[in-house]
Amino acid sequence: MVTCKSGYDPREDSILLERQVRLHAKGKVLDMGTGSGIQAIAATQNSRVISVLATDVQKGVINYCKKCIQNPKIKFVQSDLFEKVKGKFDAIIFNPPYLPQELKLRDLTIEGGKKGYEVIERFLNEVNYYLNPNGIILMVFSSLTKKEKVGEFIKNNLLEFQELEKVHIFFEDIYVYLLKKNEFLKKLESKGISNIKYLAKGHRGLLFTGIYKGKKVTIKTKNPQSTAVGRIENEAKWIKRLNKHNIGPKLSFAGDNYFVYEYIDGDFIINYIEKSNKNNIKKIIKQIFNQMFVLDKLKIDKEEMHHPLKHVIISKNKPYLIDFERTHHSPNPKNVTQFCQFLISTSQLLKNKKIEIIKDDIIKSAKVYKSSPNIANFKKIVDLV
Ligand SMILES: C[S@@+](CC[C@H](N)C(=O)[O-])C[C@H]1O[C@@H](n2cnc3c(N)ncnc32)[C@H](O)[C@@H]1O
Repeated sequence: MVTCKSGYDPREDSILLERQVRLHAKGKVLDMGTGSGIQAIAATQNSRVISVLATDVQKGVINYCKKCIQNPKIKFVQSDLFEKVKGKFDAIIFNPPYLPQELKLRDLTIEGGKKGYEVIERFLNEVNYYLNPNGIILMVFSSLTKKEKVGEFIKNNLLEFQELEKVHIFFEDIYVYLLKKNEFLKKLESKGISNIKYLAKGHRGLLFTGIYKGKKVTIKTKNPQSTAVGRIENEAKWIKRLNKHNIGPKLSFAGDNYFVYEYIDGDFIINYIEKSNKNNIKKIIKQIFNQMFVLDKLKIDKEEMHHPLKHVIISKNKPYLIDFERTHHSPNPKNVTQFCQFLISTSQLLKNKKIEIIKDDIIKSAKVYKSSPNIANFKKIVDLV
């Protein structure tokens, strides 16, 4: 039986957030983790609000709300974060469970996971898809949640924040943040890329994935911490050029300080060697050599091919060179010879796969090729594998 006593009676954090909801809620609202329904009700009291979808992972909470809150503007749905949510919203409100878990069994109402920030991380990784371009997120959390981590998730998801409130209560600070999409995210979305998610960070670049024209793409932009100048433009230029020679992932388009290219779903070279059989590895090595030879002929140095651990991805038995940050013209490119060095350094792993790399022979042929980089000398190297 449902009584009109909620699963989470409003606390200090609820009251702080509620005040901001009254001020900022607008249009179509999503109240995530509605609990007592306090935020949903506050939202409807703002005349700019059209409707509220209030969700909660706990069935008991939704049963309580449906029975005890009769408000024509609010609809209640049970959902684990965005699982059952459809559509886009102008304001998304979340007072998440943000405390670190203390006992074996997690209290879903207040504990976000072992570290405390896990539910927030999942929420921020998905929220963009459900937020209109000029939409806002109102979120509350505590100093016990690790503010730097929350900041990292915000940045990684191309959001920006404003601290609306900070209040010290007993042993913690409670923060209320207003989050918005940053200009870069809005630009990417306006170009038709959706589902943009953080992928990885390098020294110079930040990588995101997204969906563009129905296909998964990678978006590369400058890592704000990098002081390097013009690398992103350089890389986009090389990918475009090398695509004509069937090298690299296909470039979709490039813009100011970013570019978008085909997402390659596969294994980095060492993982591929570990996983694959002798024949397939040999085929891949030959294909990489061919690409190295094309680069040498074009007088282009990719660099780092003696250590291409994160520079080659193998997908559907085809190797894709990635990461052209340091690519440049050179009268004496070293792609083939550097790849020889890599094979020598991986000879033990290759030997485990019954591929014999005879160091002295490779070095000898590489030297000959270096002084005379023609097809005949190139073939002599490849034949050694
Ligand atoms: C701290 S309470 C906040 C309740 C209310 N919004 C308020 O401000 O007082 C957190 C609420 O989030 C819900 N919740 C926890 N994990 C969730 C998830 N993965 N998806 C949706 N709701 C979740 C809990 O059931 C709980 O009702």
